[in-house]
Parts: sequence; C-alpha cells; structure tokens
Amino acid sequence: MDKSLNDYVKTADWKSEKHVPAIAAPEKVAAGETFEVEVSVGKEIPHPNTIEQHIVWIALHFVPEGSPVSEGIGRVGLSSHGSVASTASAAKFSLALQKGGEFHATAYCNLHGLWLSSCPARARRLEDKIGENR
Ligand SMILES: [Fe+2]
Repeated sequence: MDKSLNDYVKTADWKSEKHVPAIAAPEKVAAGETFEVEVSVGKEIPHPNTIEQHIVWIALHFVPEGSPVSEGIGRVGLSSHGSVASTASAAKFSLALQKGGEFHATAYCNLHGLWLSSCPARARRLEDKIGENR
C-alpha cells in the first residue's frame, strides 16, 4: 500500500476554499473557564449543502501542549437524504481547558472528502493566559 489516509486529508485557507472548517475561539480564556468554539464550513464561500453534495459531519479536536495524543472534543452529524437537505454547516462546542494547546477541526463532504484546519495562534494566546493564572 503506497498511500495512507493522511494523503487524502485536504487543507487550505478557509477564506478561499469552501470545504475548510473555520475555527472561531476566544483569544483568551482562563483555565477551567467555560467558553464556546464554533466550527463552520463555508463561512466565506458557501458550501452547496444539497442532497447531492453536503457536509456529513464536523468535528473539533484538541491537542494539549506536549501531548502526542489528540483529544476528541465532539462531532456533529448532519443528514441530507430523501427530500431534506440539511443547510446547517456549523457546530458549537462548549468546553473548559486546563492547559493550552492547539485546536484542529475536520469536516467531511460526501463528494469532496475530508478537510482539516488548525488554530495554533489562538491556542498560543490561550496558553499565555492560562499561564498567567498559575
Ligand atoms: Fe463539497
């Protein structure tokens, strides 16, 4: 086998590619503070969201600083079938972190596959703020 799944995970700038999930998180939060992260697909260029082409799911992951393991925060499934096309293309996650790290979001289109984006800058700022509270 010459290829792995990694070879099929696509990424780009979400402002120019409609499939790339955009991550919206607060710039600073304190350790243990509950906050929301929104992951949206088609934020700048709308994704069609028809029965023929739609986002099947959106997921948010977190990798704590220094950890070799990604932690799944959540995955939202969207259905389009029969006479119903889900027009939702965003998911909100409510969470609290104990330390900084990086957010990663994935989204799956039934026609165009798996897409990935990351949010290291916000994580760095998050880490700075958490560091202030120690
Ligand atoms: Fe698509």
